[in-house]
Amino acid sequence: MEKKYYVFENISELAAQLALDFNNAVAEKASSGEKITVALSGGHTPKAFFEVLAQPPFKEDISWKNVILFWGDERCVPPDNDESNYKMTNLALLSHIDIPAKNIHRVLGEDPPTNEALRYEKVIKENVPTDHGFPRFDWIFLGMGDDGHTASLFPGALNLSEKEKVCVVAEHPKTGQKRVSITLPVINNAERVSFLVAGKAKEPVFREILEKGETEELPYPASMVKPKDGILEWYLDKTAAPEL
Ligand code: 6PG
Repeated sequence: MEKKYYVFENISELAAQLALDFNNAVAEKASSGEKITVALSGGHTPKAFFEVLAQPPFKEDISWKNVILFWGDERCVPPDNDESNYKMTNLALLSHIDIPAKNIHRVLGEDPPTNEALRYEKVIKENVPTDHGFPRFDWIFLGMGDDGHTASLFPGALNLSEKEKVCVVAEHPKTGQKRVSITLPVINNAERVSFLVAGKAKEPVFREILEKGETEELPYPASMVKPKDGILEWYLDKTAAPEL
């Protein structure tokens, strides 16, 4: 597994570089007539990145017809709810770009979670090529909570040992909010996995993963992200990674 760390002065610089990298990745696929399968993360940190993509030159230059979008996780709320990752992405990006509706695979957060996890697993299997027995995304974006959770995989959750399913129902340990999340086998089967991590609150867990993640079994789901045959990147702001 190749691992890379990029540290930026602030979230704006992180977003600007990531937009360039995204543009290059799409262009590379589009140049051979291929589509890129991308799983987006939720939370706050990706918003700045989405807002940059929604502006010129990326708004026009990116071949959006070659971009197939999914979410790594979603809160089980309707799409017009402020907690919805889809709503955040739609306001920051999707409502500003010309992307075919059929390229956007939203998690139906308004539906019963168990049914939706099964349905979304089917959607992913039908639209993302399978490799090593699991869907192999081209690019998965992840955030990290200050408790070390990622997607909606929380410390101590039983679904961390899931070996077969593509999607699971999860529960936020503090709020009890139901979530639908892709699983670790899917994340670790991706070609490219990029963490977007900003803010001082994330520094203690990130430092522990940096220092011990290779040699110790840590309880943080984010430390269990180890793409078998892919690259792992950390896009960080300097408050999250002062030691780098
Ligand atoms: C979610 C996310 C979650 C998020 C982290 C970091 O739906 O909440 O997918 O895993 O990425 O909680 O969130 P922030 O970027 O807001 O710190």
